[in-house]
Amino acid sequence: MSTPVNTSDDTPGNDGTTVEMSRRRVLGTLGAAGAGGLVVGAVSGAGIASAVSGESAPSAPALTTVGSTEVMFHGKHQAGITTPLQSRGHLIAFDLVPGAGRKEAAALLRRWSTTAGTLMEGKPANGADTDISLDAGPSSLTLTFGFGRTFFDRTGLTARRPAQLDPLPAFSSDVLDPKRSEGDLWVQIGADDALVAFHALRAVQKDAAGAARVRWQMNGFNRSAGATAKPMTARNLMGQVDGTNNPVPAQSSFDQRIFVPDGASGAQAWMAGGSYAVVRRIRMLLDDWEGLSRPEQEQVIGRRKSDGAPLSGGSETTPLDLNKLGADGKTVIPNNAHSRISAPAQNGGAAMLRRPFSYHDGIGADGTPDAGLLFIAWQADPLRGFVPVQRKLDRGDALSAFIRHETSGLFAAPGGPATGEYVGQRLLEA
Ligand code: HEM
Repeated sequence: MSTPVNTSDDTPGNDGTTVEMSRRRVLGTLGAAGAGGLVVGAVSGAGIASAVSGESAPSAPALTTVGSTEVMFHGKHQAGITTPLQSRGHLIAFDLVPGAGRKEAAALLRRWSTTAGTLMEGKPANGADTDISLDAGPSSLTLTFGFGRTFFDRTGLTARRPAQLDPLPAFSSDVLDPKRSEGDLWVQIGADDALVAFHALRAVQKDAAGAARVRWQMNGFNRSAGATAKPMTARNLMGQVDGTNNPVPAQSSFDQRIFVPDGASGAQAWMAGGSYAVVRRIRMLLDDWEGLSRPEQEQVIGRRKSDGAPLSGGSETTPLDLNKLGADGKTVIPNNAHSRISAPAQNGGAAMLRRPFSYHDGIGADGTPDAGLLFIAWQADPLRGFVPVQRKLDRGDALSAFIRHETSGLFAAPGGPATGEYVGQRLLEA
């Protein structure tokens, strides 16, 4: 659900601390859950110009609202989890190179953290910057880092691998490509400007040289901020309003569902404030989907296409009435409708924060678009989030005929770094 940016003078960082802002503007359109760590207009156009050129530029034009929005790197949780959906995304997974172990991994995470903190402020990367995002502000850039299951064996940290990173079960509808799945390390990049996002991708890759090599990389997008007249929930490439029933930070159960608690112990202690990301590249069979009539499409999801309202009535945010019967005596929201089967009430309360990007990787030899959803679900424990829901969807979701899970990854994203700390330090240096 969309959440407006906090425009009061006390905008919190990712850890809830107050951030002083020199300028304030309001975003037109926001995508997902809360506005964690978002500073609107914290960096002025002149500030960026002088940071880049080293000269004062008092007459430089102000940056647009989109460019000037800054998300805090430091905080209790990493940025890019409750940050509103950005319009551009890159996902990149790495494997440590042979011979690289815990020391090299720690040095890499330190480099990545320095880069992330710098770029998220809208400053050029240390050393030889590529200049790709010169002239642009931070543009809501976030970099989020995670560790895959294989990382722990390669770094001698197997004893500190949480059980939450146990392999996901195989699902009957999986058609997974192992080469584009999993990985020792994973970075999610999001920004509201394509050049800012690509700049960060290059910086992350360059930092990894000598320590880790790219295993796979994927590119995604969402609607641009300001494209709609008012803030609205995003649509996916099937045209559905997608994200309505996400948990939101204002709910008392939110932290418990999405983040590992402060008091976590044993192999999980270093994950306090962190979250687990399930990453699936889900191809949409768009020719088949678009062959359905609009009412048929609405039956598949159980919601209206126009505004995302449940077929049981009301508006987008009206709760689903799963018991409502139609004139034919059947439930108005079909028994195999995606929104019925995935609802927490049907899955012992299982819930996750879905924060996806759409993707389009061209047209295949068969003429069909290679397009769909880079599905990213955040939760405190995949066994109480993604797994039970996907088990159920796998057995009877009407949507299954129109999608194909092609890749899969599970990553532990530790809590956000305190000032002076790097991401993952509590794992790598304890
Ligand atoms: C391409 C694949 C998918 C598409 C197009 C899709 C689309 C949608 C749409 C349109 C909704 C209704 C609006 C909303 O509440 O956001 C929805 C709800 C939901 N979906 Fe999916 N979905 C996909 C895959 C998945 C997967 C793999 C899972 C998890 C295993 C999942 C879990 C959920 C959940 C938990 C809800 C909210 C249910 C509720 O509380 O009402 N979805 N999805």
